Amino acid sequence: MTTTTIVKTFLFWGLLFSLSAFAGTGREQVTLDRSWRFYLGEAEHAYKKDYDDSHWRMLDLPHDWSIEGEYDKNNPAGISGAFLPTGIGWYRKKIEYRPDWNTKRVYILFDGVYMNSTVYINGKKLRTRPYGYIGFQYDLTDHLVPGTNTIAVKVDHSKAPSGRWYTGSGIYRHVNLLVTNQVHLSRHGVQVKSGLERLGLAFARITSTVENHTPSSQSIVLEQVLKDREGHMVLKQRSGEIKVLGKEDIDQEIKLKNPLLWSAESPENRYVLQTKVLNPEGGVLDERSTVIGFRKIEVSVEEGLRVNGKKTIIKGMCMHHDAGPVGTAVPEDVLRRRLKLLREMGCNAIRTTHNPFAPEFYRMCDEMGFYVMDEAFDGWEVAKAEHDYGNYFEEWWKKDLEEFIKRDINHPSIIFWSIGNEVRGFTDKRQHELVDFIKELDDSRPITQGEGSKGTAIEIAGMNGHGEFKGAIAGFHKKHPSKPVIGTEITHTYQTRGVYRTKTSYRRRDFPAPWEKGQSFAPMKDKVYLIPDLFEKEVFTEYELPYQSSYDNSIVRMGIRDYWKETKDKPYFLGAFRWTAFDYLGESFGWPARTAPFGILDLCGFPTDNYYLYQAIWSDKPMVHVLPHWTHPGKENVNIPVVVYTNTDGAELFLNGKSLGKKKLKEGELQLVWQVPYCPGELKAVAQTASRQTVTKAYKTAGNPETIKISTDRKSLSYQDRDVAHLEVSIADSKGIEVPRANRELHVEVKGGGELIGLENGDILDLTPHMAQNRRTFNGKLLALVRAVDTNEDIEVLISGKGLAPARILLERLP
Ligand code: GAL
Repeated sequence: MTTTTIVKTFLFWGLLFSLSAFAGTGREQVTLDRSWRFYLGEAEHAYKKDYDDSHWRMLDLPHDWSIEGEYDKNNPAGISGAFLPTGIGWYRKKIEYRPDWNTKRVYILFDGVYMNSTVYINGKKLRTRPYGYIGFQYDLTDHLVPGTNTIAVKVDHSKAPSGRWYTGSGIYRHVNLLVTNQVHLSRHGVQVKSGLERLGLAFARITSTVENHTPSSQSIVLEQVLKDREGHMVLKQRSGEIKVLGKEDIDQEIKLKNPLLWSAESPENRYVLQTKVLNPEGGVLDERSTVIGFRKIEVSVEEGLRVNGKKTIIKGMCMHHDAGPVGTAVPEDVLRRRLKLLREMGCNAIRTTHNPFAPEFYRMCDEMGFYVMDEAFDGWEVAKAEHDYGNYFEEWWKKDLEEFIKRDINHPSIIFWSIGNEVRGFTDKRQHELVDFIKELDDSRPITQGEGSKGTAIEIAGMNGHGEFKGAIAGFHKKHPSKPVIGTEITHTYQTRGVYRTKTSYRRRDFPAPWEKGQSFAPMKDKVYLIPDLFEKEVFTEYELPYQSSYDNSIVRMGIRDYWKETKDKPYFLGAFRWTAFDYLGESFGWPARTAPFGILDLCGFPTDNYYLYQAIWSDKPMVHVLPHWTHPGKENVNIPVVVYTNTDGAELFLNGKSLGKKKLKEGELQLVWQVPYCPGELKAVAQTASRQTVTKAYKTAGNPETIKISTDRKSLSYQDRDVAHLEVSIADSKGIEVPRANRELHVEVKGGGELIGLENGDILDLTPHMAQNRRTFNGKLLALVRAVDTNEDIEVLISGKGLAPARILLERLP
């Protein structure tokens, strides 16, 4: 039974109550990530409580078994799933009953299991959940017995491909155990809709759902305490006594004068709402904290996107949920590093293509400052990959969509919902159903759909690739003048780190996708944004397809510079999300490529030059970047196009200390080009800001590969916090100058209290298994991920390779 009680009180700054001193929060949430038994394959009786799993492998979650497997052309996931294995996997874990649970409720919380998970407790089946990207919670209370209890999870990813990209397989997100009183806040039981009533006055409408598992009605008092970013209480409100039988929704509203406003530029302006369910006699029955932010999002055709009254352009990136060598079981440090790289580039927005991400992603976006387009689905009832969610959509979409909205509603970072992407065969009626369903749960955010503009329900038209044709955005606006437009996938370019071509290449003409083979380029020619060749003759003949050029001249329909020219001055165009930030596994052009190089950062998260082009366009922090590198043996006296990106008004180029001239960026130009006869030495670009700050970027010509360099983003690793160190490994000459094209096999050994959890070089053709300790550098670089293990010793990493002086690094292992 759910009823609603409305309690409205308006409290302001200064009207502060004293904090009551209740002990305990009434809830205990502990991680269940550690020490699961795992078996890859069907194990018919493994659901039974006393099944003997002692021979199974022991591991910690999150875990993705696909990334541990071998690339094989015949794996059923095929091109979509990067040729990695899928299958069935079983996980088992024993938990010991605690006597204090006698009076409690005990729940198990899964953040995401890919896919078709069935959970058992002591041999009893709880439920099956098909969608692999959504969290769920099961009540264990009535199934627990004194002594040992066994959780078993069957993950059935035997039918593949189940997505158009690499999905991973297994319990690839966190699992927690939640213990509460019999009266407690429900899952997602604090739903906050916050905003600005007017400048200087924020509101938060809070719906708290309290459930009572006792047979009789219970009286409670609900308290809301708002704390500012320093942890000071700024507001407190209490309801009167409320009787709860079954489930009760309780609405409260708070108002705050002179709030500090959240935005991607001021993400530190977050508040914490502490919701307490109190026993009228005193004592806390339950308590939970919700991070919220006050901000005003306005969207119109006249002014585009305004955040807190300020015109804002979406400088966005599409991301898939995998992260290179760790697959989809992404440690927090790996995700944080990726988001940091995007922030440093000037990116302010992320689209979660094409599914809900892990909960920690949204927390980081709140903290680091990103606007999020949060996407629920790829397709709907018509499957796009043979075994994808389309097969389950009719039965599950409402449950999954409700879980998704309720899970994410409180995040200030999420400013748009997206209900789908290039949805096949959708009807206007169905689009309205999804939009209406969301609006019932949250009417505070505009809704869009990737390429869904033929439907009338969405408030913002999302344009994918078709928005990259010449004049397409303006053309759409002409036909639909009252609909704001956003680029949901603009633009697509290809690039490979360290690869250059001076002649422009177009996908349809020069490296057609499998579905474009045999199609002529001629009808496309006037529709794509042509880019002049950098040099009439190909200077770099050494790089072969499918490696792509990093000069912003390997395009599908529109390069990065044309994207920006098309974006910045159209008031009805809110900006765009590029396809994609990082290379993601799957969706290649065919064996043996495991990815198509869509990312401006590779699978390691190493930037290509196009990363710096975005930085020059988007970021205010003074920068200059020059390309290509300056080690080109055999090209002496050949003219090499040298390109400079900068966000200052120009740059000066030097070769071996001699100026090759200063150039100023002409109106509308986004790069400076010099033709430089190659001669070994030092190539340096120097730029100066209006306030005379100087920025430089230089390359030196490298000699023979002789040494190995290691740099790390962490010097110490905590086992408890599951820290991960990113070791960036490069091949250098005797003077320590990095050798850009060195492809050398290296051996990585981690000793003491650490383990190697992934090796990656970013080469889309390298099919070395991710668990291997040997891997070749690709264009001079390799990434090694190291994590602390349950052994109290410092960590030593040794890296060696034939003909190279070995390198060693010590990391402190913390508890
Ligand atoms: C789009 C699609 C994306 C990705 C991209 C590759 O059509 O929405 O998910 O497949 O193409 O070009």
